[in-house]
Amino acid sequence: MKVSIVILAAGLGTRMKSSKAKVLQKLCGKSMILHILKQAFTLSDDVTVVLSHQKDLVKECIEAEFENVKILEQDLKNYPGTAGALKGYKAKYEKTLVLCGDMPLVSFTSLKNILEKEADFCVAVFKTDDAKSYGRVVLVNDEVQKIVELKDANKQEKDIKICNSGVYAFKSEILAKFLPLISNENAQKEYYLTDLVFLAKKEYKIKAVFVDELEFMGVNDKFELSVAENLMQERFKKELMKNGVIMHNPASIFISLDTIFEGECELYENVRIEGKSFIKDSIIKSSCVVEDSSLENSDIGPLAHLRPKCELKNTHIGNFVECKNAKLNGVKAGHLSYLGDCEIDEGTNIGCGTITCNYDGLKKHKTKIGKNVFIGSDTQLIAPVEINDDVIIAAGSTVTSDVKSGALYINRAPSKQIDDYFYKKFGKK
Ligand code: UD1
Ligand code: MG
Repeated sequence: MKVSIVILAAGLGTRMKSSKAKVLQKLCGKSMILHILKQAFTLSDDVTVVLSHQKDLVKECIEAEFENVKILEQDLKNYPGTAGALKGYKAKYEKTLVLCGDMPLVSFTSLKNILEKEADFCVAVFKTDDAKSYGRVVLVNDEVQKIVELKDANKQEKDIKICNSGVYAFKSEILAKFLPLISNENAQKEYYLTDLVFLAKKEYKIKAVFVDELEFMGVNDKFELSVAENLMQERFKKELMKNGVIMHNPASIFISLDTIFEGECELYENVRIEGKSFIKDSIIKSSCVVEDSSLENSDIGPLAHLRPKCELKNTHIGNFVECKNAKLNGVKAGHLSYLGDCEIDEGTNIGCGTITCNYDGLKKHKTKIGKNVFIGSDTQLIAPVEINDDVIIAAGSTVTSDVKSGALYINRAPSKQIDDYFYKKFGKK
């Protein structure tokens, strides 16, 4: 099907009360605009996004993920409103689909369903008991007569329960013909795209297509942002569980949409996985955070933190262990450690309280630990440093130089024992 798609994303997003443009607010780890763009590109090769407010930042975000997006700049000052956004828009194909940047949950299948309707002009609407600030749709036998914005609605119109989702599919000629006729004589002094209906209905039949309220919800404020994120998470986690991931108390788990699971994985409650992570045949116990990292045949937590660029294979990480840019292959680090900017090889055990001292105040340095190394508890490894294979580092050591294969490294202040000191001071009880 050949359809041109235009996504409105130029608005100020005032209700979001944020210094960040509304469409850049993140949902499941991705800016809101990227969700609807993904669906748009599954339907069309002619996708335009209308920008104005923070246009450079939004453009940068879009172009980091998608090629071939056409950008149209809206003159927000002189032509504010959703119709103002389309001024100067030219569709490549005979049919145009209008979407909003603030509807992240809409699926490809529902849009396809709207596009397949035999009609010159379709408006996607939903019925709800809580019409919020959605445009009220005046219907006669499934034909749309007009759409009234809440701020312009009279008492009777305010009570209408059919709402405009903000998605329209129409013959491209309709836009060309009627857009110039839209005025800004309304409560907000804006050019409303919804007025296209009222103007076009004299010549064209305008069909209402009923869609799901939650799927087509508009995200205008931070409460709606959280509602949409929860719905998206629920949807994603359901798909993951159907594909074999075990989740304990899934409602408490957050997983970024870019995370890939393979094999059999298990996630305990309060797990958060961010960025582009890869988890294969692994167990993540309660209250762990994983960011942009990969785990293969490993188990972490409870209460472990993998910061970006960790690669764990056949590894066990226990509670209160923080890793960053750490390549661990066949390693055990059971408790209370910081492993940053390091490579650690097979059979190595990291004792409780080990710290890779990777930062000298100016630069980060690397720690390399070979195979079958035993790092005693409470060891500080002053990077850059290399510990070769088959080494024992005595507990409590500060390692300031490379250690040769097979060596014992010990660095402790000499200990002293003063006999009967206690009894001399306090007497025997
Ligand atoms: C709009 C509809 C309303 C509908 C609702 C569905 C109008 C006048 N109202 O209201 O009937 O029920 O969506 O969610 O169309 N935008 C621009 N330029 C602008 C103004 C907005 O590009 O000058 C963009 C926004 O960035 C946003 C989208 O258009 O992505 C919708 O704008 P928004 O302000 O959220 O409209 P609503 O008040 O939600
Ligand atoms: Mg909106």
